[in-house]
Parts: sequence; C-alpha cells; structure tokens
Amino acid sequence: MKGVILAGGTGSRLHPLTRITNKHLLPIYDRPMINYAIEALVKSGVTEMMLVTGGTHAGEFLRLLGNGQEFGIERLLYAYQDRPGGIAEALGLAERFVGGERVVVLLADNIFGRSIRRSVDAFVKQERGARVVLYEMTDMDHLKSLGVAQLNGDGRISRIVEKPGTPPSKLAVTGVYFYDHRVWEVLRTLEPSSRGELEITDVNNWYVEKGLMECDVLEGFWGDAGESVTAYYNVNDMVRAKGANRD
Ligand code: G1P
Repeated sequence: MKGVILAGGTGSRLHPLTRITNKHLLPIYDRPMINYAIEALVKSGVTEMMLVTGGTHAGEFLRLLGNGQEFGIERLLYAYQDRPGGIAEALGLAERFVGGERVVVLLADNIFGRSIRRSVDAFVKQERGARVVLYEMTDMDHLKSLGVAQLNGDGRISRIVEKPGTPPSKLAVTGVYFYDHRVWEVLRTLEPSSRGELEITDVNNWYVEKGLMECDVLEGFWGDAGESVTAYYNVNDMVRAKGANRD
C-alpha cells in the first residue's frame, strides 16, 4: 500500500501564524506537525509515500525531510499543488505515483493519539472499496466544522455530511482515508463545492452509495490541529501530555 500525505492549503484558519510558514510546519509539542503524519504511516508499515504541498514554503519540507530515510521512509516523493483546490484535487496529483495500488491518504494536520495500524491492517484484508476512520465526539457544535457520518442499523455508513448545520451523529470523519483503484475515476467526476473545492466527502459518498465503504471507530485521542487556534493548542496539550501514534 502506498501513502499520500496532504500538506497543502492556505491555513487561513490559523492566520497570522500561517502567513510566514505552512501550517504543517508549525510545531506540535517538540516536532513540526508534518512529522506526526509521517510517523503514523511508517509505524503502520507504509514506507513509500508522496507528500503533496503547495504555496510559498514548499521548499522547507525538502529541507526538513530530505529523502526521508532518517524517518524510516524507503521512498519519498514530492508533488506541488499550484493552487489550493481542495483535498480531493491534491490527491489527484498522486495518481501516477500510486499506480494501480491501494492508497492510504492522510491529512497532515490530523494527529492521532494511538497508531492507525489497526485500520491499515483491516484495509489490507478488505477485498475492495474504501475505508474511513471515525471518531466519537462529545461536543456537537464542534461537529459542525467537520465531516460527520450517519450510520444505519448494522453499523455501516449510510451517508457523510460535510460541515452539517445539524450533525446527524456524534461520529466525525477523521482525515485518514483508504481507497482502491476506483478513486482516480471518482476524482474525475467531482464538481467544486460551495467553498470552491473538490471535497473528499464527495469521494467518500461515492463509495458509500456503491456499498463499498467500510469504517472503524478510533480509540484514543484525535484532533485536527488546523481547524482553529484553539484546536491547535488542544492538540499540542494532548501530545505533550500523552504522546502520539502510540502502539
Ligand atoms: C476535512 C474534511 C472533513 C474532515 C476533516 C478532518 O475538513 O473535509 O470531512 O472531517 O478534514 O480533519 P477541512 O479541514 O478541509 O475543513
């Protein structure tokens, strides 16, 4: 399985911190944010990966990560996103790198307390389709700024709603996604959303509608450090107290 780390975007929700650097280079406790995404993949046995970034600080990733060997990466490729067009558009840049293989996609501002290995292993065993990782939230208001999954009686996802006014459940869709080869065709069918982006939720709902979506519910801490300055500091506090990507 190949890995794709998405580390682009303008980081406008963290302005002015992100006027002088890329969001994913900001520190989370003792390391730049991007290092946690790399660790999450390497610890799950995914050692061939592409990092997709953009903007004016893209060169800093090369300075920080080089060829990635210091971090346990076997093969590290970089792609440059010309304009911030959304997560799904950024993923499209990795098509040739992934080839016909399966892919795990990670948003680099997502920090996980526990290793995502269990989901990686489950996707290896999954025959086809896609997989998302859900996180049960206690704060209903917080869900309004995320993708939220609605489950039917047998624990399968019946739909995902992006930034819902009224969240259909307490289950947030985290930024780790697993896809089979169909994903590239799905990307070509997408239309920009009201925020002018190609939405990863539209990709996921394609798989949901075809009955090809599986899911896990995450144990331990999860946070999107790019959501707001408050979220950024919450994630920092959690990582400092408990660490990240623990086995
Ligand atoms: C994105 C996804 C959303 C998901 C979130 C996780 O949101 O669109 O479904 O819940 O990442 O971090 P964004 O950060 O683009 O607002």
